[in-house]
Amino acid sequence: MGKREGFASSFGVLVAMAGSAVGLGNLWRFPYLVGTNGGAAFIIIYLACVLVLALPIMYSEFIIGRRSQSNVFGAYKKLAPDSKWCNVGFIYVLCSITIISFYSVVGGWTIDYFVKAATFQFSSASADQLSGMFANTVTSTASPLVYMLVFLGITALIVLAGVKNGIEKYSKIMMPLLFILVIVIAIRSVTLENSYAGIEFLFKPDFSKITAQTFLDALGQAFFSLSVGSGSILTYASYVSRKENIVKLSAQTAISDTMFAIVAGVAIMPAVFAFGISPSEGPGLVFVTLPYIFNQLPFGSFLAVLFFFALFIAAITSSISMLEVIVAYLDEEFKLKRRTSIVLSLILIATLGVFCSLSQGVMSDVKILGNSIFDLFDKSSANIMLPLGGLIAVIFVGWRMKKAEYADEITSGGLVKFSRTTVGIFYFFIKYIAPVVIATIVIRSLF
Ligand code: TRP
Repeated sequence: MGKREGFASSFGVLVAMAGSAVGLGNLWRFPYLVGTNGGAAFIIIYLACVLVLALPIMYSEFIIGRRSQSNVFGAYKKLAPDSKWCNVGFIYVLCSITIISFYSVVGGWTIDYFVKAATFQFSSASADQLSGMFANTVTSTASPLVYMLVFLGITALIVLAGVKNGIEKYSKIMMPLLFILVIVIAIRSVTLENSYAGIEFLFKPDFSKITAQTFLDALGQAFFSLSVGSGSILTYASYVSRKENIVKLSAQTAISDTMFAIVAGVAIMPAVFAFGISPSEGPGLVFVTLPYIFNQLPFGSFLAVLFFFALFIAAITSSISMLEVIVAYLDEEFKLKRRTSIVLSLILIATLGVFCSLSQGVMSDVKILGNSIFDLFDKSSANIMLPLGGLIAVIFVGWRMKKAEYADEITSGGLVKFSRTTVGIFYFFIKYIAPVVIATIVIRSLF
């Protein structure tokens, strides 16, 4: 890699960051976790995790990435030379590989559903038929593999095109469109007959359902949704100019992501109850419920096509941020050509992705620690690797970097003004609150 590329504009950075954060995590993973974890109480814990834990990690990754202008490995090497810190880069790379492997499978499902929508396959289907359709979609052998490869291929092409031309251009149009569509769906969902139970489920907490696992799921989901803990933010931040206000960027990213998640919840849950689908249906929840809502909307078939296309774009803008972690690492640390780095990553990811996909069908009997391969990848990355990666970032900024360096980065070298109290409060969260709480939640629920 020659001279390092960078983002062209502040707006471009925001679009890329929000594009990374908003994805299947908000529209697929969040609703089904809310469903399996009993609703409102989970959402409250989730929001607390975003604010108190995920946001400090996002600041930390921003600080490390922008200050070092380097990949996950090189960043720690630059900021802590003559130490073993750089080895933590492996955790980030491993985590990114794990996530993108199963993420691409789900990304493939969105393409499949786009095709189904465009060929009117779910017009006037019943809830049972839609359940069956989802089961068929994911348990088949060949077609999910093909769609997964298409999804990965497109991800790779965009990463190859580089940050500016690929990522910025599409996100600018598709993300607002997706948001509008989700709001339309939400309005229809809450106006369905018998939707009230769903609204109660979302907003009336039942704290008796909370266990240590609820906390771990909420924490993992907060990290997954905000893309923190595996170096995506760190790597993107390394392309951000010294002038940008990284506190504002983090806050904007977190706010857009959280709004998407909440609106997605409101779009899905009332309909789930109205149609008599079980909220704890699991990963199929969104794919079964949404087509049903579209059937109840004027121009539903047309909106469905638009929606699955926008969802696919949202997924792509997230998957490129994972691939970029791996590619930047291979690129810079092994002096490989960008093209070579991409091909090598793809071979590995596609191989793992094949197992994730098949574990929904022909390989569903293969269990590791009681989980299918897909679930193992999903749970181990969100609930263990992301918290670990996040912990490392906050500990590094809080305990290894000098406070002056931290303040310099937060204020963009004095360009951005914050009161000393504000700078101090962020620091307190990074240094004490986040590490202690993350470690407590993970250790308590694992043992
Ligand atoms: N946040 C994205 C989503 O909600 C997924 C994602 C992108 C991600 N980059 C990440 C998750 C890095 C964890 C780590 O769909």
